[in-house]
Amino acid sequence: MAAGGAAALSACVERLRPDEPIPDGDGADAHPTGQHEWNGFLRTDEAGNHQLPRHHTFLYCSLPGDGPPGSDARSTVADALDPLDEAFAWGPEGLLHSVGYSPAYFGRYDGSLPDSVDLPRPEPLAPFETPTFDEQDLLVHLASDRPDALLSAEEALTGERGSANDVEFPDALTDAVTVESRRTGFMEVGRPHEEGDDLAGVPQPNPIPEDAPLFMGFVAGLRANQATESYVTLPDGPFAGGTTKAVSNWRQRLNDWYGEQDPDQRVTEMFSPGHAAEGLVEGAGQNLGDDSGVDDVLDVVADAKEHGRVGHAQKAARANRDDEGNVKLLRRHVESTDDDEASLHFPALQRGISDFEEVRRAMNGTDAAEATPAVRQRVNNGILEYIFVRRRGYFLVPPRNLRALPRPDGSA
Ligand code: HEM
Repeated sequence: MAAGGAAALSACVERLRPDEPIPDGDGADAHPTGQHEWNGFLRTDEAGNHQLPRHHTFLYCSLPGDGPPGSDARSTVADALDPLDEAFAWGPEGLLHSVGYSPAYFGRYDGSLPDSVDLPRPEPLAPFETPTFDEQDLLVHLASDRPDALLSAEEALTGERGSANDVEFPDALTDAVTVESRRTGFMEVGRPHEEGDDLAGVPQPNPIPEDAPLFMGFVAGLRANQATESYVTLPDGPFAGGTTKAVSNWRQRLNDWYGEQDPDQRVTEMFSPGHAAEGLVEGAGQNLGDDSGVDDVLDVVADAKEHGRVGHAQKAARANRDDEGNVKLLRRHVESTDDDEASLHFPALQRGISDFEEVRRAMNGTDAAEATPAVRQRVNNGILEYIFVRRRGYFLVPPRNLRALPRPDGSA
C-alpha cells in the first residue's frame, strides 16, 4: 500500500490471489447521504467497538490556478467519483471513501461559507508545535480491508487505468486536480509489531505488543469514548448531512516511550494515574470493553498534584463532552509507516472544527503544568513527550450529492 502504483497492485493481487471477487456497489444514490457514514457497515469487536478498515489511502489534491473551478472541472470530478460507488460495495469488503474541501478551496470563491459551517484555517494549537498546514484544495480518503480494491480505486482516480472492478471511469480525478501528497495508513491488531522490526526509531528487541493495534501499545476508539455519526453530522444549512474533518499527522518517538517507561507508567500517561493504580488496563486494554472509564478520572489537576503525572485520555476527555454528556469527536485514526517512520494519521470528525480545537488544546494540560512543577509542558504530561505533530489540515466533508467541487453556498 505504501509503495502504490501498478506494480504494487499486481504484486498484491499475485500475493493474495484473492478468489473472492470484490463486491460491487449500488451507485451513489443508493449509498448513504453522509460520506462519513461508515459505522453501520463496519465490523465490530466482541465489545461492540467499530473496527476501521485495515488499509487507508489519503490523496491531498489541488486545482490549478487561483480562482474558482469551472463547470467542466466540476463534472470531471463527479464523473471520477460516481463510478467508485458503482464499482465497490459501501463497506470494508468493498470501499469506503470521502472527499473533503479545505478553507483554502472555499477561499477561491467570492462568497463565503454559511455560519452553519465552522471551518477556520488551521493554526498551531500549542505554543510548542510547528506543523506544516495542509492547505491543498481537497482530500480524498479511501479505506478498505482489500488492498486490491484500494489500489485499483486509486489507479482509476489517478488515470493509470480506465476502469476498476469492471466499471468504466469516464474521467480521472487527475484530469481536474493534481495529487500533491499521497499518504497511507493501516489499522490492524498485530501489524504495528510486525512493522516495528524494520522501522527507524523502534528499539530491538521490538517491544511493541503483538496484541495492540497502535504503535504505542494500546487499543483506541472505544465506543463510549467516541461520538456517534449522527452527533457529528451537520444538522442544518446547505451542507446538512455532511461533517467537518480535522486530519493531523503525528510522528511517534517509540524509543523513548518503550525505553524510558515501564508498563504502569505507560498506562498512567495514556489513560490516568488511577487506571495504573487500580490495574484497570490489562495488556493492550482489550479488557476495557467499550469504555475506557476516563469519565471517573476527570480531575486532572488533582491527579497532577498527587501523582506528578497526568494521562492523555483524561485530559482530552475534559473538553470532549457537551453539556448533556455526549462525546463530541469521532476519531478515526490509523497508523502509518510513511517515510519509514512510525506515525499516526489522525482524522477526527465533529460538527465544527472549534470542537476539535478545544479538545486538542485540553490535551496541552496547561492547568496541570501550572499546578505542579513535576508536570511540564511536555514532560509527565500525557503522551506529549513522545508525539510530534508534523501536519494538520481542516476539511468540510459535504453530503454525497454535493461532493464534486461544491460552491460555498451549496448550490448545485
Ligand atoms: C500518536 C498519537 C495518539 C495516540 C497513540 C492516542 C491514543 C489514545 C488512546 C489509547 C486513547 C484511549 C482509548 C480511547 O478512548 O480511544 C485515546 C483517547 C483519546 N484521544 Fe488520543 N491518541 C493520540 C493523539 C490524539 C490527539 C492528537 C488528539 C486530539 C484531539 C486525541 C484525542 C483523544 C480523545 C478525544 C480521546 C478520548 C477521550 C474521551 O474519552 O473523551 N488523541 N487516545
